[in-house]
Amino acid sequence: APDLPDILSTEFAEDPYPAYRVMRERAPLIWHEATQSYIVSRYEDVERIFKDRDGQFTTDNYVWQIEPVHGRTILTLSGREHAVRRALVAPAFRGRDLQEKFLPVIEANARALIDRFRHAGSADLVADFATRFPVNVIADMLGLDKADHDRFHRWYTSVIAFLGNLAGDPEVAAAGERTRVEFAEYMIPVIRHRRDHLGDDLLSTLCAAEVEGVRMSDEDIKAFCSLLLAAGGETTDKALAGIFANLLAHPEQLQAVREDRSLIDRAFAETLRYSPPVHMIMRQSAVEVELSGGTVPPGATVTCLIGAANRDPARYREPDRFDIFRDDLATTKAFSAAADHLAFALGRHFCVGALLARAEVEIGVGQLLDAMPDIRLADDFQPAEQGVFTRGPQALPVRFTPATP
Ligand code: HEM
Repeated sequence: APDLPDILSTEFAEDPYPAYRVMRERAPLIWHEATQSYIVSRYEDVERIFKDRDGQFTTDNYVWQIEPVHGRTILTLSGREHAVRRALVAPAFRGRDLQEKFLPVIEANARALIDRFRHAGSADLVADFATRFPVNVIADMLGLDKADHDRFHRWYTSVIAFLGNLAGDPEVAAAGERTRVEFAEYMIPVIRHRRDHLGDDLLSTLCAAEVEGVRMSDEDIKAFCSLLLAAGGETTDKALAGIFANLLAHPEQLQAVREDRSLIDRAFAETLRYSPPVHMIMRQSAVEVELSGGTVPPGATVTCLIGAANRDPARYREPDRFDIFRDDLATTKAFSAAADHLAFALGRHFCVGALLARAEVEIGVGQLLDAMPDIRLADDFQPAEQGVFTRGPQALPVRFTPATP
């Protein structure tokens, strides 16, 4: 392989894009010792692995990567079992449930957070908004006690650290497993109680859901709720911060979005392509597979680099340019058909929460723009992304003319 920084190095964490380019061009399939996986970086290869039309890949790798913290969820399952289990949960995140039950929850949570700083004239969009908003939304959707939001936030932080622990720090791993225990101690009694007091919330929907005679056990529901913390929290958190970082770096595009709010959807899609929250997704090969860069043996773990594939010039013109008006990217309106960037994956495991995420972004960004008519970065602040597995701005201090009371 050419001279490349290791994907676990600081250099790579600071800016993986130069290395992504070299990989795509000269090393599209690399064996990586530390993660014991094959790294794949070209759009055509990642797309093919996600779509997996021939059933050559499973998510068996999640049994050791993700189950220790979440327990068994649809992420780990494949085939028919995955389809049935996914059908149990998916309807809760689209259509009428989303429109009627959850949009008001999203609006109220955005407003409550923004009310804390709209009169201050300054905020950190990461700490004060992005890292709180999606987790609070999920907790409220589930119908949990508002007083537990902070506890939820702590678990969320620990789960993310566990999943991002590619280098295998034993303390982070132990903390993640403790969270699994604490989360179960909290959730199982709540689920049992809810079964006898069904309401209009997501937890009640999960308790009542039935597909082909299959229902979710208390343990299944607890595991899925735990997955929601990470799958629905950290990702949306980074997407929100990413949109603002990208738009603040391109003031004319920010102005366009401010004037025409329907462009938020384009800004979201382009942010997911240009700076996806999840940079790496792993799969396991079931058979020997031929990719553009070489052959993967059966039973191998394959690391798909979404951040590299999304900037493949074979797929997107001038891929390193952030442009919400580009015409070679579908907006997220027509999700199931072709959300063509790979940030939500594709195929069987395509993000269940994509429409929910879009609603959170449309509402959250809209309300933030209303509250901060002249938003700008704090003086001298240079936004920087961090992270390898997931990636996003670590801080985004902004200034604006405070709202008059
Ligand atoms: C799956 C990204 C928001 C719930 C996925 C996957 C990706 C992803 C890449 C595929 C994982 C894999 O194939 O291994 C994102 C991004 C989001 C987002 C970038 C925000 C911008 C959400 C939200 C929810 C959610 C808000 C909450 C409901 C899920 C679930 C799965 C999933 C349950 C598993 C689907 C399955 O295995 O069949 N997401 N996600 N995600 N996402 Fe999201």
